[in-house]
Amino acid sequence: MNRLTSSARLMIVSDLDHTMVDHHDPENLSILRFNALWEAKYRHDSLLVFSTGRSPTLYKQLRKEKPMLTPDITIMSVGTEITYGNEMVPDEGWVDVLNHKWDKKIVTEETSKFPELTLQSETEQRPHKASFYVKKEKAQEVMKNLSEVLVKRGLDVKIIYSGGMDLDILPQGAGKGQALAYLHKKLIAEGKLPKNTLACGDSGNDAELFTIPDVHGVMVKNAQEELLHWYSENAKNNPKIIHADETCAAGIIQAIGHFKLGPNTSPRDLPLPDLLKSDNFDPAFEVVKFYLFLERWQRAEVENSEQYLEYLKAVFSSCGVYLNPYGVEQSLDDVIKKMEESCGGKKGKQYRIWVDQVFSSQLDSNTWLVKFKKWEQTGEEQKCCFTTAILSTKDVKGPHGVSWVHVHQTWVDGSKSDGKNWFL
Ligand code: GLC
Ligand code: MG
Repeated sequence: MNRLTSSARLMIVSDLDHTMVDHHDPENLSILRFNALWEAKYRHDSLLVFSTGRSPTLYKQLRKEKPMLTPDITIMSVGTEITYGNEMVPDEGWVDVLNHKWDKKIVTEETSKFPELTLQSETEQRPHKASFYVKKEKAQEVMKNLSEVLVKRGLDVKIIYSGGMDLDILPQGAGKGQALAYLHKKLIAEGKLPKNTLACGDSGNDAELFTIPDVHGVMVKNAQEELLHWYSENAKNNPKIIHADETCAAGIIQAIGHFKLGPNTSPRDLPLPDLLKSDNFDPAFEVVKFYLFLERWQRAEVENSEQYLEYLKAVFSSCGVYLNPYGVEQSLDDVIKKMEESCGGKKGKQYRIWVDQVFSSQLDSNTWLVKFKKWEQTGEEQKCCFTTAILSTKDVKGPHGVSWVHVHQTWVDGSKSDGKNWFL
């Protein structure tokens, strides 16, 4: 949380399933568009928060299936677990808040008396969350009765219905909205309240995100009935909340534009000639742009590859060095040769590249050190390399204004490849 030295320009707090992540798009296009926009324009001075109903187990599973960025803060189990950073360090202070008038044993005992409730899987039962399935027709009545019994037993709980099937019971002080309010409070204490916060969601458990003061909100096009119903009863006249006409992450991009929160053109949406055009040099944009190029190159979406070979030769320094993740050193000239051979190598495959956590520091007036995670997915298989690159604008000839002089990669976690054709 302390990565930024001043207020974030934008804090996005987004639900995952059917908001950031579109389960109906096997190509994952809208999240990939969001990723490119975030890394090119926001990562360095903004905060990305994922807020999901999933437990840590199911959250980690989703990360393996979908092209997701690494958030700064992860809120899981419907706002009952908050963690920070890559290491997912838990916020112990938050757990203390949740013990007020909460006793999981009593919840288990009382819910077992309701035959309409079917217990969700073991992974989704958490210290401050009990989760069930219940049919739509029964939901309202069960929620009312359950809430009465639990009050009688001395508890103060919150019962939330989501996605037309999930029923969660949480401590009254928990929930996605309260977790966001808690984060805001912490940031205020550090003098770093974000300049803008955008909450994004699609279902019942997201409603309270939209009730936090000064938060902009977007309900994506495909929002669930229960969220739209909540909106029409509670927030219809609030101009800070919109119902997007785009689904999932495309709706988030739309909201960034609607509320004028910053740039809202994803580099992924640019045609190649526009993408490669050099405006002002920006290291993060440079990295995003190069990997979008590489993806299109491998997918055989680059016409007239001769012309683009010129681009490669212009941006890779002829005395540049590439250390691949196997520890083998190659010249960047050799890398270009390999790229030439591999043009279209992923044609017809479900192949995507996205960069994550792109951070740069300026070393001197012409040199930048950029580090990022480079992910690629072919079908269901994901691989990830930590990458550092040195970019220079010194003595650069040609129209692109920058050259890559050094690239070094290391495998992340379990990622590794067959090796033969791995580069950059
Ligand atoms: C996620 C969780 C589930 C919860 C639902 C709604 O699907 O896995 O336990 O009930 O979100 O909050
Ligand atoms: Mg959702």
